[in-house]
Amino acid sequence: MIAEKMKNLVANSSAIRAMFEEGNRLASIYGKENVFDFSLGNPNVPAPKEVKDAFLEILNDEEPLIVHGYTNSNAGYEEVRKAVAKSLNERFQTSFTSENIVMTVGAAGGLNVILKTIINPGDEVVVFAPYFGEYRSYVSNFDGVLVEVSPNTETFQPKLDEFREKITKKTKAVIVNTPNNPTGVVYSEETIKKMAAILEEKQKEFGTDIYLISDEPYRELVYDGVEVPYLTKYYANTIVGYSYSKSLSLPGERIGYLVIPNEVADSEEVISAASVANRILGFVNAPTLQQKVIAKCLNAKTDVSYYDRNRETLYEGLKACGFSCIKPEGAFYLFVKSPVADEKEFCQAAKKYNILLVPGSSFACPGYVRLAYCVSYETIVNSLPKFKELAKEYF
Ligand SMILES: Cc1ncc(COP(=O)(O)O)c(C=O)c1O
Repeated sequence: MIAEKMKNLVANSSAIRAMFEEGNRLASIYGKENVFDFSLGNPNVPAPKEVKDAFLEILNDEEPLIVHGYTNSNAGYEEVRKAVAKSLNERFQTSFTSENIVMTVGAAGGLNVILKTIINPGDEVVVFAPYFGEYRSYVSNFDGVLVEVSPNTETFQPKLDEFREKITKKTKAVIVNTPNNPTGVVYSEETIKKMAAILEEKQKEFGTDIYLISDEPYRELVYDGVEVPYLTKYYANTIVGYSYSKSLSLPGERIGYLVIPNEVADSEEVISAASVANRILGFVNAPTLQQKVIAKCLNAKTDVSYYDRNRETLYEGLKACGFSCIKPEGAFYLFVKSPVADEKEFCQAAKKYNILLVPGSSFACPGYVRLAYCVSYETIVNSLPKFKELAKEYF
């Protein structure tokens, strides 16, 4: 008999699996090119050339026992953490050292590590809807309580008045994700400053430490020159979770890192606990070959222009059909208003045209659907006549 806590998680996973299987089923009937699967955030732009070169160079030139061995520290190779810290300092005028960096198994691994490090059962973790649905499971893994701030569907910037109200003595952490999955919105500097001021105020009021966790796997995927504020500069108690899954198109390689600055409350304890959490959660250390690869690719860039063309074409195309949605400034998602209140019904209707969408309720924002446009440009172009037919059912 599986654990009680797992029962719900399994039920939710089946919904995602069902969507994946539906894509395969439709492809087997209609042909892959006639199925418009916008359900998965799996990058379709190949990793930059530097990545393959780095793999080959490391495998050819370096000592296999080191490349494939356990790392001495569960936080990762010293020289890799040093290189990551140096690169961040150059980009964001910070002053991190290797001590502030813990290499992780992607952003998902990093979030689980930091939550294991700081959460006691019953501690509250505040998130802003719409948010990446996996946060529910990550917080529940450590018996934390997820507290949702409802969505501001005008701008999809966080609702700060409600945020202030929802912070309690039990609030241990706040997770922000910008550029955001599922909306593509980048939280403005003004928003971040106000959020930081509220957090300072509440730490004082309650005499507690509230950690701001910046989950930012999409930092590099931004358009029109938009700036994504680096949050450690606005609020001392900030921990950053980064990943190369999207920025270098390496989601299966499972590599990322946490930044735990010295300014964070009890930083030394948090850093060493995060390293232990990495070990005892069973990650042991982030994949060693991948650590070495990313250290050689810190300046490599994915072809953002490919996603940008998809973004423009899909956004303009959907608008022309009558759909409404905020224009994303980052990531590779469009969050479209469902023309009917029950967005699951709309997703079902879209399936008749071989269009696969994810309901907004998966992101705690019903009434909307998410489209992942990290697909081929042809898929975007060929889907538009189908969206037109779908739109005719409503407008
Ligand atoms: C907002 C957000 N956080 C974390 C993750 C997990 O990413 P990773 O592959 O680095 O574990 C994702 C993946 O889609 C995501 O969208």
